[in-house]
Amino acid sequence: MYVLGIETSCDETSAAIVKDGRQVLSNTVTSSLDLHKKYGGVVPEIAFRMQLETIAQVVDCALKESGISKKDIKLISVTNGPGLAGSLLVGISFAKALSFSLKKPLLGINHVYSHIYANFLNGERIGFPFVALVVSGGHTSLFYVKSFDSIILLGSTLDDACGESFDKVAKILGLGYPGGPLIEQLAKKGNAQKIKFRCSGTKKQLDFSFSGIKTAVLYAARNKHLSENEKRDIAASFQESAIDTLVKKALLACKIKKVKSLVVGGGVVANNRLRKKFLEEAEKNNLKAYFPPKGLCMDNAAMVAGLGYQLFKKGYRSDLYLNLDLN
Ligand code: KG4
Ligand code: ZN
Repeated sequence: MYVLGIETSCDETSAAIVKDGRQVLSNTVTSSLDLHKKYGGVVPEIAFRMQLETIAQVVDCALKESGISKKDIKLISVTNGPGLAGSLLVGISFAKALSFSLKKPLLGINHVYSHIYANFLNGERIGFPFVALVVSGGHTSLFYVKSFDSIILLGSTLDDACGESFDKVAKILGLGYPGGPLIEQLAKKGNAQKIKFRCSGTKKQLDFSFSGIKTAVLYAARNKHLSENEKRDIAASFQESAIDTLVKKALLACKIKKVKSLVVGGGVVANNRLRKKFLEEAEKNNLKAYFPPKGLCMDNAAMVAGLGYQLFKKGYRSDLYLNLDLN
């Protein structure tokens, strides 16, 4: 069964064709990132105007690359939240129009859950239940996943998302946007033990807080002319501490929920240091850690099509009243 996925929750415009929820036949992603760089973050107004201009071509391109035709599509699956309202509406409106004109069913998909699903694309078999951690620019959340339609929130960030703190620290160090890959690159030659940054504690042990560590970096860097070496040490020390917190809380969630599988998703999971640390610590604790392929960590429509397939099989459907769900 061929599913068309559409994803426009942030600055990306993406469309994909996925067969039977597993096999990615095409996954076209364009981004307005370059237009946001000079502002140091995504400007919603710019993002959705670009998405309006590109969505039709992106869907065409995904169809062409997959080798299937419009009539072969059995479901149109679209991200309907959380994310930027204007951006989401572009994807939702396009998906509705296509669903109406092609007479194909429509299904709205939660963006955060679709990041978890990225782990199931291209063949990975992961048994339920498991603990999932989604670490992106907008979210840092731990879930207990009993099935694709039974996902229970265990904890989430009280302030900044982890990816957002990478972006802000990169800005403080004058590196540019998006900050995650730039921090990772700079940290490679830095001393991660040089500065003891720590994430703030939280009342509930499975919640996160990243705004304190970002402020600590600001104090370490403020009013100083930092040498390249000092910048490297700050980047490495920050990165290590942020990753430590993610690993510790995720392992604790596995212990509390008594599960043996830990599934990690979201843009920050492109980070190699994070992957290494999760693998090492999972092994020490007799757990198995899963990550999506690198190309499926960031926002993409393949994960939306994949999760759409699974939920459609369980009987879920949306209709033309499908709207944003920003929670
Ligand atoms: O999942 P995603 O594409 O978008 C959201 O749903 O938010 O994640 C984007 C986030 C950005 O904050 C970016 O800085 C971060 O993922 N990111 C990274 C890396 N690559 C992307 N963070 C740390 N290390 C990386 N290599
Ligand atoms: Zn995302």
